[in-house]
Amino acid sequence: MIKIEAIVRKEKLEDIKEALSKIEVNGVTVYEVVGHGKQKGYKELVRGTEVVISMLPKIKFEIIVSSQEWEAKTIKAIQEAAFTGNPGDGKIFSYDLRSVMRIRTKEIGTAAIN
Ligand SMILES: Nc1ncnc2c1ncn2[C@@H]1O[C@H](COP(=O)(O)OP(=O)(O)OP(=O)(O)O)[C@@H](O)[C@H]1O
Ligand SMILES: [Mg+2]
Repeated sequence: MIKIEAIVRKEKLEDIKEALSKIEVNGVTVYEVVGHGKQKGYKELVRGTEVVISMLPKIKFEIIVSSQEWEAKTIKAIQEAAFTGNPGDGKIFSYDLRSVMRIRTKEIGTAAIN
């Protein structure tokens, strides 16, 4: 199983939800987050400590899929829906995932996400 995380522009939320539902992704979690990429923004001293004050609001998706085939499909769908071509379009990360349990049935592993 593979966990995909995507941090994207807020205004792309609906487009990405639609793209994921088209490929029939079974579950998704969405967060409101703040962050910055390589442009960083500017820094400021607050009570003697240097802090980055240009954290931009973004949306984060978390999706667990069962195979590398689904990983590729999901990443492609997100990339296409999130793309504008400008800095700040976001990033997509993926990780191997150890375990999933569906609480209702106690199913473990891919049975719990299919
Ligand atoms: N290396 C990273 N680690 C963790 N989060 C990141 C990283 N890079 C980007 N992010 C998250 O993704 C958001 C969007 O990043 P962004 O698209 O600006 O990346 P970038 O590397 O600066 O690329 P671009 O040049 O296209 O802007 C950031 O606000 C941050 O939340
Ligand atoms: Mg950037």
